[in-house]
Amino acid sequence: DSIEKGGYEHFMLKEIFEQPRSIHDSMRGRLIAANNHLIMGGFREYENKFINAKRIIIVACGTSWHAGLVAEYLIEDLARIPVEVEYASEFRYRNPVITEGDIVIAISQSGETADTLAAIELAKSKGATIFGICNVVGSSIARASDAGAYTHAGPEIGVASTKAFTAQVTVLTLLAMIIGSKRGTIEDSKLRQLMIELENIPAKVEKALELNEKIVEISEEFKDAPNCLYLGRGYNFPVALEGALKLKEISYIHAEGYPAAEMKHGPIALIDENMPVIVIATRDSSYEKIVSNIQEVKARKGRIIAIVTEGDQVIPAMAEYVIEVPETSEFLTPLVSVIPLQLLSYHIAVMRGCNVDQPRNLAKSVTVE
Ligand code: G6P
Repeated sequence: DSIEKGGYEHFMLKEIFEQPRSIHDSMRGRLIAANNHLIMGGFREYENKFINAKRIIIVACGTSWHAGLVAEYLIEDLARIPVEVEYASEFRYRNPVITEGDIVIAISQSGETADTLAAIELAKSKGATIFGICNVVGSSIARASDAGAYTHAGPEIGVASTKAFTAQVTVLTLLAMIIGSKRGTIEDSKLRQLMIELENIPAKVEKALELNEKIVEISEEFKDAPNCLYLGRGYNFPVALEGALKLKEISYIHAEGYPAAEMKHGPIALIDENMPVIVIATRDSSYEKIVSNIQEVKARKGRIIAIVTEGDQVIPAMAEYVIEVPETSEFLTPLVSVIPLQLLSYHIAVMRGCNVDQPRNLAKSVTVE
C-alpha cells in the first residue's frame, strides 16, 4: 500500500502531485505547438458532424459535470456552437429534446456511472452522436460511445477526483480548439498562442504545487469552520463549484460554490466575521467585477482567502490570505486555479482526522441509479 502511494500519505495527495504529468499525458500525441500539430484521433471520423453541429449537449455527474461546465465556456468561446451541460440523472428522466444533428459529449472518469450511461443510451436511441471522454479504457461508456478521446490520467484511487478533472479539462480544451480551428471560429494567431500556452500548463501546475506549504498554514486557520463559501466568475465559476465539492466530500464541512455576482441574491445573507469566503479572482476579463464582489464580502466582515494571479497588487490589500498562481490564458485558468483548492480541501480533511481516500457514504464509481 505504501509503495503504491509512492511515499505520499494518501492516494489523493499523490494524485494531486501527479497532475503535471497526467495533464501532459492527456495531450501527448495530440498537441505539438512547434509543429502546428493539433489532432485528436477519435474526432476525425466525426469531424463533419462537429463542424455542422447545431448544438452540443454535455452529460456527466459530479466532478466530471464540473469539467463539462468548463467545456461549455470553452466550446462556446472558441467554436461558437451552443452548449448545454446536463446532470445525466436529470437529462435521462425529463424527456429531453434530442435530434439527429445533436452531439452528446459524455464525460466520465470511470466510464461506469449508471446515470451517465443511461443518458447516452437515451440520446443514442434518438439518433444523436455520442462522443465519450473517459479515463478507464474499455469501460462501459467508452464502449457505448460512437467516438471519443481518452484522458490519460492513469488510475485514480482517491474517491475525490483530482487528476481526472484536470485531464478532462485538458482534453476538452483540445477538443474546443480543434472544433474552433475546423470551423474557422478562432484566428490562427490566437490558436497558436493557445497551443503554446497549453503546452506550458504542466510547468505552471508544477509551480502551483509549490504553494503546498502555504496552504497547510491556511488550512490550520480554517479547519474548524462549519461552513465555507467559494466564489468565482467566468472560467472560475466551475472551479468554485469544484472547490466546494472537494471540501464537502472529504472534510464534511458544508461548502457552497456560487457565481460571485449571484452572491447578492442569497448567500450574502450568510456572510459575517465567521464565514470563510474563498474567492477565485485571477486576472481575466471579469477581474474588475470580482474585485467589487470582494469588497462586498469585506464590508460584511467575511474572511477572505483569495486565489489571484502572481503579482496582483490590488486584492492582497483586501484579503486576509492570498494564494498566488502563475498567469495563463483565461481559457486555461481552471487548470491552474483548481490546484490550490484541491490542496486546501486535502489538508483540512487530514487535520480533521477524516479518511480522505475513502470518505464516508461516497463511492469512486456510482453504478446504481
Ligand atoms: C462519484 C465520485 C466522483 C465522480 C462522480 C462521477 O460520485 O465519487 O468523484 O466525480 O462519481 O464519476 P465518473 O466516473 O462518471 O466521472
